[in-house]
Amino acid sequence: MSSQRVLMVCLGNICRSPTAAVVLRQLAKLSSGVPLAEIDSAGTADYHVGELPDPRSIEHAWRRGYDLRGERARQIDAKDFDYFDLILSVDRANLTALRRLAPTGSRARLRLLLDYAPAQPLREVPDPYYGGPQDFERVLDLCEAAAAGLLSECSQA
Ligand code: 4NP
Repeated sequence: MSSQRVLMVCLGNICRSPTAAVVLRQLAKLSSGVPLAEIDSAGTADYHVGELPDPRSIEHAWRRGYDLRGERARQIDAKDFDYFDLILSVDRANLTALRRLAPTGSRARLRLLLDYAPAQPLREVPDPYYGGPQDFERVLDLCEAAAAGLLSECSQA
């Protein structure tokens, strides 16, 4: 597989997708030889543009060794659909939004993040924004499972 650019997408770009991006970046660094050129994240909504990730996401990720403090929320842009090879949505609602936003003929493949974690019973990463600590931990569990699956697929290609 040639070098891939991957964009993680959620609604606000302050909880799930920045977590998914940082986890994948870090695990990719550890598995040498995996050709991921660039890993970024964005939201379908503009509610939190310019903000740091949610402090709860930062805290839970930090405890597992992931540093989210370099991330800033942004909204997905039409150019992203040509720049990125693979755009992964955390849930079906945002996948539907992505399909609506994608310019005709754009080249990125759109998929669910958890397509790469087939052993997980969940197909969507639940939104932790109105939830508790266990919801933020579950986001990390699911992002780690999907990152492992994606990296394993890339290294076999
Ligand atoms: P995210 O979570 O999509 O995982 O970043 C959310 C963050 C903010 C809101 C909803 C979900 N919000 O409604 O402001």
